[in-house]
Amino acid sequence: ANLAAVEAADAAAANGADAQGAMRQPIRPAVTKAAELARDAENRARDRQHVKGKFTARERLDLLLDSGTFEEIGRFRGGDINKGVAGSAVITGFGEVWGRKVAVYAQDFSVRGGSLGVAEGRKICHLMDQALALRVPIIALIDSGGARIQEGVAALTEYGNIFRKTCEASGFVPQLSLILGPCAGGAVYCPALTDLIIMTRENSNMFVTGPDVIKASTGESISMDDLGGGIVHNVKSGVAHYLGADEADAIDYARTVLAYLPANSGQTAPRYAYMATRADRDIAERLGTVVPGNERQPYDVLDVIRCLVDYGEFVQVHELFAQSAVVGFACMDGQPVGIVANQPNVNAGALDVDSSEKVARFVRLCDAFNLPIITLVDTPGYKPGAEQEHAGIIRRGAKVIYAYANAQVPLVTVIMRKAYGGAYIVMGSKAIGADLNYAWPTSQIAVLGAAGAVNIIHRKDLQKAKDAGRDVEAVRAKYIAEYEETTVNANLSMEIGQVDAMIDPEQTREVLVDSLKTLASKRRVSRTGKHHGNQPL
Ligand code: HXC
Repeated sequence: ANLAAVEAADAAAANGADAQGAMRQPIRPAVTKAAELARDAENRARDRQHVKGKFTARERLDLLLDSGTFEEIGRFRGGDINKGVAGSAVITGFGEVWGRKVAVYAQDFSVRGGSLGVAEGRKICHLMDQALALRVPIIALIDSGGARIQEGVAALTEYGNIFRKTCEASGFVPQLSLILGPCAGGAVYCPALTDLIIMTRENSNMFVTGPDVIKASTGESISMDDLGGGIVHNVKSGVAHYLGADEADAIDYARTVLAYLPANSGQTAPRYAYMATRADRDIAERLGTVVPGNERQPYDVLDVIRCLVDYGEFVQVHELFAQSAVVGFACMDGQPVGIVANQPNVNAGALDVDSSEKVARFVRLCDAFNLPIITLVDTPGYKPGAEQEHAGIIRRGAKVIYAYANAQVPLVTVIMRKAYGGAYIVMGSKAIGADLNYAWPTSQIAVLGAAGAVNIIHRKDLQKAKDAGRDVEAVRAKYIAEYEETTVNANLSMEIGQVDAMIDPEQTREVLVDSLKTLASKRRVSRTGKHHGNQPL
């Protein structure tokens, strides 16, 4: 907006009139020169970025922010106007997304490869300080060759400053990073410390050591994309939370996510109007048919979620990663919430090291920004095997417990079908700290599945049957049926107060909306005397 204003003033000055046509004082040559520099810089940026299929930093800002809301800070900071240098390699400022203020910095690859030197570091830190003072989200558009090599350790120091500020802002204001070009070396930790990382299918790379260094040190040959492209980080490493088809899609996702978040930890998310329609009843009824009666039959938990949330709109986070769990944002009767669910379609919904971290991190995000969490449980337990044990399922699975046990937002859980063992207890049980738990009639709550349990508790009986020459399988089947009948259900959970009510799937949305209303005034308690917990990491 500022650049446009300068250009308009410049054009008006050439005519000796302002936009309304009134005669005005001539623009001073210095202003004209600055405007020219700014215009030339953007033309140069277009030439350099468009050939690579990339937008310029300013075009990206146009896509991200509500039209005409960008207020740039320090346009020429770090430049040398007399020598024709229009500014530094990062653009900083404030703008609006859905009418709400955000702080944004966009690295400009057309200026010295978007690299970060002292001028860029100071600009970014200044912006972050202002964002903290104004308590607004910070969005980073990253496209950079990393620390400016010519500035040596002074550039590295600026990264240290940004890291520290990002940690200070963490949990206080939402921080989103979009990787729209290279992001290499220690510079990756700028986005890594933020809440969400959004990458694109092409032209988006993150790695601590690049292909050349890897080749030189280990002999391994690998392309930039195979090492740290958008697909790798969304599917394999879990570093990124969304894979944009292109830059516009990535930016659109950032805007969408911001719609669900408050500006800071002291506010609640914006509420939206929800108009109930006649279709709602049909959708609620459809929910009764999604979960198959046969416990071995998988189904897509997304079908359940879409039947429960407003307009069926569910914005997944980490969609391509650790798919045995599903997490994301939605609204319930206009109230933004976080949804956490097991996904029976993938590994039967078992929790593994990756899905544990996916769930834990999302719960932490929701708790930091006051989003109630709805948990939908259908899990046979933790994924068994040496591979999981050796990958640290103990250490990494503990993160789920830590996240739920410390969450102070409203927590409501629905047990849809399987809820076995530790995996049930950690997935938003009342014991772990949830406020309300409901169970569908199809729920199976127990320490172990029937077959496994019978093998243990009836081992001697089965042995006796075998010794007596009886049909062991028939005896086993009898014990299994008995166990399923008496133990694998929600009765004990209701009796000990761990499940508050048995509800039909058709009632679930209504019950959840009512529960959220009941819990709306839940307040945080601060426990004095400790600096912070020692979270399993
Ligand atoms: C100074 C840099 C630069 C850098 C790029 N440029 N990276 N200038 N410092 N780090 C300049 C180039 O010299 C070039 O200038 C312009 O930017 C565009 O770069 P190209 O190489 O022509 O672009 P491209 O072919 O697209 O390659 C992009 C790239 C490559 C893959 C990012 O530039 C690259 O490998 N750069 C160095 C990356 C790196 O090792 N950075 C340090 C990482 S370590 P001209 O004038 O020719 O247009 C790090 C530590 C952080 O960041 C530590 C935090 C604790």
